[in-house]
Amino acid sequence: MSNIGSYEERIKDFSWKLAEEELEYKDGDVINIGWYCSDRNCIKGKGEKMALIWEGLGGVEKKYTFNDVRLASNTIGHHLRGLGIKNEDRVCLFMDKIPELYLSFLGVLKIGAIAQPLFSAFGDESLHVRLENAQTKAIITQRKHVSKVRRILEQMPYLEHIIIVDHDGKKPLKERETVFNLEEAEKIDEFEIFPTKAESPSLLHYTSGTTGQPKGVKHVHYSIISQYLTAKWVLDLQDDDIYWCTADPGWVTGTSYGIIGPWSQGITQCVLDTGFSAESWYKFIEKNKVSMWYSAPTAIRSLMKAGDDLIKQHDLSSLRHIASVGEPLNAEAVIWSEKVYGMPFYDTYWQTETGSMMLTNYPGMKIKPGSMGKPFPGIIAAVLDEKTFEPITEPNKPGLIGFKPGWPSMMRTYWGNEETYKKKFVNGWYLPGDKSTIDKDGYFWFVGRDDDVINTGGHLVSPFEVESALLEHEAVAESAVVAKPDEVNMEVVKAFVTLNPGFVADDDLELKIMNFIRKKLSPLAMPQEIEYMEKLPKTRSGKIMRRMLRAKEWGEEIGDTSTLDDE
Ligand code: WTA
Repeated sequence: MSNIGSYEERIKDFSWKLAEEELEYKDGDVINIGWYCSDRNCIKGKGEKMALIWEGLGGVEKKYTFNDVRLASNTIGHHLRGLGIKNEDRVCLFMDKIPELYLSFLGVLKIGAIAQPLFSAFGDESLHVRLENAQTKAIITQRKHVSKVRRILEQMPYLEHIIIVDHDGKKPLKERETVFNLEEAEKIDEFEIFPTKAESPSLLHYTSGTTGQPKGVKHVHYSIISQYLTAKWVLDLQDDDIYWCTADPGWVTGTSYGIIGPWSQGITQCVLDTGFSAESWYKFIEKNKVSMWYSAPTAIRSLMKAGDDLIKQHDLSSLRHIASVGEPLNAEAVIWSEKVYGMPFYDTYWQTETGSMMLTNYPGMKIKPGSMGKPFPGIIAAVLDEKTFEPITEPNKPGLIGFKPGWPSMMRTYWGNEETYKKKFVNGWYLPGDKSTIDKDGYFWFVGRDDDVINTGGHLVSPFEVESALLEHEAVAESAVVAKPDEVNMEVVKAFVTLNPGFVADDDLELKIMNFIRKKLSPLAMPQEIEYMEKLPKTRSGKIMRRMLRAKEWGEEIGDTSTLDDE
């Protein structure tokens, strides 16, 4: 029997109170995600249960019970407090998927500070704009990433502490740097957790829009109510499961469902901190007897490409349930997974701002391959007319997705950008910025985004950020960035540029510009192709017509070009 039982029954008279009761939380109580994910499991008799099975390069393994997680997060919290970090201070986590990342996340929350996880693959510019926006007080990082912080240090007077978790004592430390070695630190057993309340801020996740700098999505401790119940009902986590969420906690999936969802339920999870290869993933599932697996379409498409023979060489019989998030999951991938793993990938739709799953497929529900499924109980979802913002009642007619605000894990604002936050609400609906249809049975079908944001392998890239970075290259005069189709990543970044006088438009320069962006922003934001142009298509008012360039890449109709300045 699945945790959700019958979807139809669950949506009747649904109340989030149910999750509150299961978590023994009452309105006005102290609620702290760090405590829920560690101490509470120990109180419930799971102290000796395995919480984290971690594997790094070369097959190195580390294991932590819930009691180990409790002690480690206390120890980190204690250390941060000793440095003078207080509640609501922002602490950036800038690490690979090492155990310290997971443990510090809880340590930061335990002292009431705000965790700001960022991908360790970010270059200095990407890092800088996000630390600047949050006015981050401390950053926890690794030796190999500290040089990026050093390069931008002068511009960050607010950043008081750079904490290195794996320093080997060899190279000298620089300004503001200190060393914290979790294994050597004295374990803190008794720890006073900061009494955060439902609306106390917990987390800042950065996400990209079409225009402007990345936005810091603010979440609060009460979000655990949504994350707990969605993990229980959609991922169907059971007490004896071995769960594997492949996402990096630099991305919301890696915190909502790579930490909070499973650990608020006291579930054992495993983490693989190496790059992707189909072979190593299957080995990991086999070795750890993974039973619930949450991944993303790009990885699934890569697994499809790796072929079915590889699957036959591994014992994947431990798998019981599998799900996906981040991009449209092709019907083909769902059908394929049913054939090769004996079960379909259950698609789930949500975003950084929503904090937890919104539209999803449930165990026991009929799956329509290619559909995102139905709203989670308690979520009121519609497809809205683009002009009136009223729900469209006719089936299969595309419109803007809208959600009625009010679920526990909804973002509370964009950090320092209330104005943009407010613009996300129209006519009483929250607009995630995506388009969909609803069929006659109430299933949602993804149509596309309502903006120019590029979703490459499940990661959102802002054309504006890449264009701005391109302009910093000496050869580039003007730039326009759009998505181009890609077999595995669905979309990749493509840049159109015009050059400054004196530069030669050749392959060598293309490579140099690509590398420039990779270092400044990240490997994901790096254009996979640069096309040189004499002149970019612009409107008469001087706005670059990205739409035209994009249509060309996708072989679509260009549409209305009446505003094109073609002199
Ligand atoms: C897209 C990821 C189609 C969508 C948790 C959304 C999806 C954005 C799906 C959020 C899906 C996510 N089908 N598209 N199942 N899931 N998306 O904030 O455009 O990184 O708005 O959060 O990814 O991306 P974000």
